[in-house]
Amino acid sequence: MKVVILNNAAEVAAYGAQIFVKHINAKPTAVLGLATGSTPVALYKELIAAYQQGQVSFKHVSTFNLDEYLGLSGSHPQSYRHFMNGQLFDHVDINKANTAVPAGDAANPLEACAAYEAAIVAKGGVDIQLLGIGRNGHIGFNEPSSSLRSRTRVKTLTRATIDDNARFFGPDEFQPHLSLTMGIGTILESKKIVLLATGESKADAIKATVEGPLSASCPASALQWHEQTVLIVDEAAASKLS
Ligand code: F6R
Repeated sequence: MKVVILNNAAEVAAYGAQIFVKHINAKPTAVLGLATGSTPVALYKELIAAYQQGQVSFKHVSTFNLDEYLGLSGSHPQSYRHFMNGQLFDHVDINKANTAVPAGDAANPLEACAAYEAAIVAKGGVDIQLLGIGRNGHIGFNEPSSSLRSRTRVKTLTRATIDDNARFFGPDEFQPHLSLTMGIGTILESKKIVLLATGESKADAIKATVEGPLSASCPASALQWHEQTVLIVDEAAASKLS
């Protein structure tokens, strides 16, 4: 595991985006694993700018998102499909038919999870996976105590995650407590992993990820197993590292 510590969130986004641009230029048919949440938004802005400046094309790229809320269809404004369209896909030359987000409205969510795993395999696996991290060390929606070998499945969100994400929902809006998420085992099969973390609220999670024991109580610590993982963090998120 490599840790890159930069001055601020803007530098984290720019550095992370450059890794993706280089990767796509080296392999135009790259399979990207993508994340939602606040942290990757600035990186997506950098990717859009790179596309607009002719530095990268997404024409032959495929993507798989980490997770989706169970019970929300892709047209729901709080769905992660909607987020991805607005934050990235609508602004670059990607073929949306090659973008996948777990089906939050699937009639049979368990079958949808198995189909998601099969679709990743059919594409040859994820070449480069983008991750954020929860304050509790979750990656995707793999909350503490998730099996470190877990696959794409339905997962109940913890109170901490529900509270953290409440900011995206209106006061009277339905906020799902269940999700479909790639498993930790699924994530670990990505050829390369890029985790971004910014802000002091992530400092404990980053310390546990890098220095803590490899343990299901901090799901991101499983990344210690993965040789091609880079953590890109700002000074604040790195502030508790020894
Ligand atoms: C989102 C995801 C989550 C977030 C994490 C951090 O697809 O998988 O693990 O990366 O909750 O979210 P932010 O960036 O909003 O702090």
